[in-house]
Amino acid sequence: MTSFEQAILAFDRSLRVFALPARASRPYPAESVPDVEMAEESRKKSGGLMRVNHTGEVCAQALYQSQALFAQNADTRSALEHAAQEEWDHLAWCAQRLTELNDRPSFLNPVWYAGSFLMGAASALAGDRWNMAFLVETERQVESHLNSHMASLPAEDFRSRAIVETMREEEAAHAVMAESRGAAEMPATLKFVMGATAKLMTNTAYWV
Ligand SMILES: [Fe+2]
Ligand SMILES: [Fe+2]
Repeated sequence: MTSFEQAILAFDRSLRVFALPARASRPYPAESVPDVEMAEESRKKSGGLMRVNHTGEVCAQALYQSQALFAQNADTRSALEHAAQEEWDHLAWCAQRLTELNDRPSFLNPVWYAGSFLMGAASALAGDRWNMAFLVETERQVESHLNSHMASLPAEDFRSRAIVETMREEEAAHAVMAESRGAAEMPATLKFVMGATAKLMTNTAYWV
């Protein structure tokens, strides 16, 4: 595939993140999990947390697309595209759960998408070792963020928990994949900046 064709595909995928409801290629992890009646306060809390996760998956689409688009090696690109497909299912599952909770995605998703796309492009252009380093750190931070959600989701929200649990396992596997592809060691200052940016996103998306 030529670079131009890859760019067109990435553009098409960007449009699909916003223009159409995402459809998963794999079964919904909450499918057979009982849908328990929740108090209004719990429903709102779950809605806020799942909105944060949905925004995280919008960012994941942007990151994986730009990291694949500007990857320097075809093998790296195809590994990124495979992981992006799993991330697409995460996006669809979070969207479905938000609908079930009678809630909505964040209004700021296009802003986070654009910022993430630029960050992914910058890390890919720095070379595959740095591209993988950025991915490892992103996925590690997402994993610890999802751990915190497992603790803070209302106890009776078994359906959101089933989704978050599946995502958590797959994010960890993405980090292992990137490590095995020769990720560089990310400097602590960059890790800190990434963590601060992620915190800004999660704190905002809970409300807006
Ligand atoms: Fe994900
Ligand atoms: Fe991931």
